Amino acid sequence: MARVLATAVRVSPWQSLLCLFETLGKVLAALSPLFIGVFAAGALKQDLRQMLCAAAALVGSTAANTALQAVGVNARVRQMELVGHTFDAQIAELTARIPTLDHLENASYLDKLQILRDNENALGGALNTLINTINTLAYAVSVLLVAVTADWRLLILIALGAARLLTARWSMRWEKAAEEAAAAPGRLTRHLIDLTVSPAAGAETRVFGHQSELRRRIRLAVVGWRRPTVRSTDRNSALAGANSVLFFATAVVLLGWMTRDAMAGTVSVQSLVVAVGVLQGLQSVSSSFVSAVGSLTKVGRNCARFLWLRDYADEVAAVHTGRRQPPDRLRDGIRIERLSFRYGDSARDSLTDISLDLPAGSVVALVGENGAGKSTLVKLLAGLYRPTGGRVLVDGVDLADLDLIGWRSRMSGAFQDHARFELTAQRSVGAGDLAVLDDPERVLRALHDAAAEDVVNALPAGLGTRLGTTWPGGVDLSGGQWQRLAIARGMMRQSPLLMVLDEPTAALDAATEHSLFERYAEARRPGRVTLLVTHRFSTVAAADLVVVLDQGRVIEVGPHAELLANQGHYANLYELQGRGYR
Ligand SMILES: Nc1ncnc2c1ncn2[C@@H]1O[C@H](COP(=O)(O)OP(=O)(O)O)[C@@H](O)[C@H]1O
Ligand SMILES: [Mg+2]
Repeated sequence: MARVLATAVRVSPWQSLLCLFETLGKVLAALSPLFIGVFAAGALKQDLRQMLCAAAALVGSTAANTALQAVGVNARVRQMELVGHTFDAQIAELTARIPTLDHLENASYLDKLQILRDNENALGGALNTLINTINTLAYAVSVLLVAVTADWRLLILIALGAARLLTARWSMRWEKAAEEAAAAPGRLTRHLIDLTVSPAAGAETRVFGHQSELRRRIRLAVVGWRRPTVRSTDRNSALAGANSVLFFATAVVLLGWMTRDAMAGTVSVQSLVVAVGVLQGLQSVSSSFVSAVGSLTKVGRNCARFLWLRDYADEVAAVHTGRRQPPDRLRDGIRIERLSFRYGDSARDSLTDISLDLPAGSVVALVGENGAGKSTLVKLLAGLYRPTGGRVLVDGVDLADLDLIGWRSRMSGAFQDHARFELTAQRSVGAGDLAVLDDPERVLRALHDAAAEDVVNALPAGLGTRLGTTWPGGVDLSGGQWQRLAIARGMMRQSPLLMVLDEPTAALDAATEHSLFERYAEARRPGRVTLLVTHRFSTVAAADLVVVLDQGRVIEVGPHAELLANQGHYANLYELQGRGYR
């Protein structure tokens, strides 16, 4: 809360001050019954002066109240937006700052983030809520003071209002439970809706006739997403209804009692009129208090989630304390020592006890069937995950001791899940080395190294062509073409220590992959490790070293010829798969 207030004052101190005008207005509003009472008493006594004074006070305070509220509300809304933007920007910044990927694959993290996003207005409106609470408080105190000057019996109603606050705790519990229950179905709904609108899934959903099933599931998911909220709202309305009935029943009894006393002359008409006026105020005070407390706890929950996100980002940053810079060029190479890895919620290891030497200057082929753990190993080498066991040594230095950003700036390559940057072709490839993003010569060279010139040559405006159909005039590419641009992007950096090509040619046929891999292998450089990853056993003969991965374990390592002579798994599959195109 203090943070919210501090942020508000920081983004605009003057506006924060103007917000308090509304509070002043509320106090004036609470005084109205008092003026009406004085007016009524004057009328009974036929005291014109008293009547005029009371009327002037009433009109004056109402006018001032209206003006103050207008200024205050305006300031509050503007302030709310400013503070909201500040927090949204911070959430985005925090999420992007986390250097590893674990969190994006962790369901409970995604749930929390989803709630934060669903409630971004609540966080932005935290200030709004705070000011509302202050206003309610000011109004309440003023109404209470006016009430006790009128008649002590009104205190019974005040006690009822206080009891109402106690029941508000149930409402908050229901709301919190509903928010949490809705997070996962909310993500499912979004995913399903994305499926129906994304062009990538369009062909499959239509050919396989998924549309009506998708619609059915979206309906179900929306119900699952909204039902907890609807249910908690229903319960809250019932509770509020019961409270109001109780309040008004008590109010009727009290007024009857006071009216009887007024007839008997023990209660003044002025007090009676004030009491009637105050009644309405009291009712609105108790319900606005309940909603203010409700919103405040909601804001509190969101602030807690925000702090959780910040702590999480800090925690991840604290784990990566390594500050050593990678060497200019590799002397020995990369050594993998007893490396194991298991994904967050997974029941089994994706990599088990892997030890390997990737010598500097060599081209290493990593082969294995789908799901063998190849991409997982690549991600560990990029420091995108922390190993569950073992370590990676770069020229003898543990990857954990290296500065992650520094290390990544010395990596390059193409990942299996490559990005489709919908920019101009020039920039989509140039993004592989931001320093020379707009240098066409460098991009052309990278395209040449990746044997992807023909992709760009076929574009209507060459390198200047805008890619992606989300842009007017944008040109879409086939999956294979996007992938070849991704490989070219991987060729942009001039002297990476580690070059990884993770199934860069999966969309191409085996013969093309074979010749491309030969080409990449020829590009071997001293001081660098090149890692070619594929599920095809028949395309990597040109590598210096072949590593066969199977179910997360290394089952064979050696030069191509040696592995062939061994007549093991690799030799078998090499024969089998190679027959197709030799
Ligand atoms: N994000 C993830 N969460 C849980 N398990 C995963 C995740 N990514 C991959 N796996 C599992 O890890 C194993 C290895 O996957 P991967 O490294 O992608 O294989 P490959 O690249 O060799 O095809 C597979 O069993 C896969 O199901
Ligand atoms: Mg893979």
